[in-house]
Amino acid sequence: MSDWLVAPGPASLDLAANLSAKLRAKLVTVETIDFPDGESKIRVDDDVRNKKIIIVQSTYPPVDKHLVQLLSLSHKLSEEGAEVYAVVPYLGYARQDKEFMNGEVVTLGVIARLMRSVGIKRMVTVDIHSIKALGLFSFPVYSCSSIPLLAEYIRAHNELQKPISVSPDFGSSNRVEAFAAVLKSEFVSFKKKRDRATGEISTEDQNLNLHGRDTIIIDDMISTGGSVAKCAQLLRQHGARRIIAACTHPVLVGGAVDKLRQAGVDEIIATNTIPSKYSKVDVSPLIANYFEML
Ligand code: R5P
Repeated sequence: MSDWLVAPGPASLDLAANLSAKLRAKLVTVETIDFPDGESKIRVDDDVRNKKIIIVQSTYPPVDKHLVQLLSLSHKLSEEGAEVYAVVPYLGYARQDKEFMNGEVVTLGVIARLMRSVGIKRMVTVDIHSIKALGLFSFPVYSCSSIPLLAEYIRAHNELQKPISVSPDFGSSNRVEAFAAVLKSEFVSFKKKRDRATGEISTEDQNLNLHGRDTIIIDDMISTGGSVAKCAQLLRQHGARRIIAACTHPVLVGGAVDKLRQAGVDEIIATNTIPSKYSKVDVSPLIANYFEML
């Protein structure tokens, strides 16, 4: 057994179990009761004094609830004398990392302060929306990339014909480049604009001939599906044979799956930073690797 203990947060039980198996680390007993009004009560039933504990808790929707659970569990473990490390595979609010319009709250900065205040010594996440956002934290933080694992999975499970990897916006062009390197495919980035007031998306077209080609759209997250749907419509118009939508974080809210299907997406493939039927790629090896190197 290793020196680490793993505390499963209620949002990430399976991922915590995978991580504890990979690290050969004991799982801490954490009991959670959900009350009808949405509040949760969390109880730690183990001696954690002087132990190094990795909490695994993703903050997908309901984001605020999962966040409060993460903060509560961290606070309790710190109070009991443990050294607390947090794995937050999907970091909610990561897109609110700067003041886009005057007067907006930089919510990720608030979360960074809260995490520190409950004793988190170090935080690890997966494919944070923007690496620059890590600068808001005043303690060590790291973002692992799941892109090579996603690409490997898609390569191994599909007979792709003349594949081309596609980024729905310039913000994901580093990701698509890394993805295409593993897939050994060409890649292209679309230019997307989002109206900050209305959230409306427009994607600039490109002169492409995709007849007979399989296309893989790659993004950090699919939330409402708007960005990937716009991109998929263009790929179809240019003759794409098949469209796979791949992402790290399958947030999939507000009818996203239907929107993607209607736009011509054939398949959705994601990681298990958020549990869903599309979460085929396990990120626990990445996280285990990080802690083995510490
Ligand atoms: C934005 O730049 C992100 O990389 C995603 O493309 C975006 O947040 C996904 O959101 P939605 O699915 O609502 O378009």
